[in-house]
Amino acid sequence: MNELRVRDARESDLPEIVEIYNSTIPSRMVSADTEPVTVEQRTGWFREHEPRRRPLWVAEVDGTVVGWLSLGDFWDRRAAYHATAEVGIYVKDGHRGRGIGRRLVEEAIERAAELGIEIITAGAFAHNGPSVKLFERFGFEQWALFPEVAELDGVKRDLVILGLKVGKRDGAIGEHYGGEHKHRR
Ligand SMILES: CC(C)(COP(=O)(O)OP(=O)(O)OC[C@H]1O[C@@H](n2cnc3c(N)ncnc32)[C@H](O)[C@@H]1OP(=O)(O)O)[C@@H](O)C(=O)NCCC(=O)NCCS
Repeated sequence: MNELRVRDARESDLPEIVEIYNSTIPSRMVSADTEPVTVEQRTGWFREHEPRRRPLWVAEVDGTVVGWLSLGDFWDRRAAYHATAEVGIYVKDGHRGRGIGRRLVEEAIERAAELGIEIITAGAFAHNGPSVKLFERFGFEQWALFPEVAELDGVKRDLVILGLKVGKRDGAIGEHYGGEHKHRR
């Protein structure tokens, strides 16, 4: 594969970010949205990100955005959750299975301490095998299961929350991730 570059997203990337997101909706495996979202609807979400605390990164190949990862505030954003962030990750169809997701998650884990993040959570439908496997590969474990909370095309679906303790502000990498290095390439 040509060189993969990960950088902070710019607002001008938002149409591509939204397009990648929207492309996953019809599969009914990834998103709780059932209709495409607009750039306008996602602008507020984009602006909630801060490169030094809650970043939104894009993965680029040859200047084209082929994926993105966001680290957003957890749950209802209140102060007690300051060191916990929720990850979202989307890789463009046609570029999956080539290590882009792995690279983005790796970077999130490696940079968590400098971002003030000690715990990363990820929400996924239980039937989203690629997503669950991607996170488990890095040592994420299932911390919660909400049975049948979603309904997609008339089918009830479970939501799982996966979590990983990644490290402390002093830069130490947590024991869970430390134990997972053997899985990294
Ligand atoms: C989940 C997703 C981000 C993975 O990205 P990717 O670039 O294809 O993943 P990679 O090629 O880096 O693979 C990394 C790991 O993910 C898992 N994985 C990826 N695709 C998989 C698949 N089709 N089936 C099973 N596991 C898969 C594997 O554990 C893989 O590790 P391995 O290479 O050692 O086998 C991608 O499939 C995607 O964008 N899906 C739609 C969006 C989504 O579901 N996002 C998650 C909701 S937050």
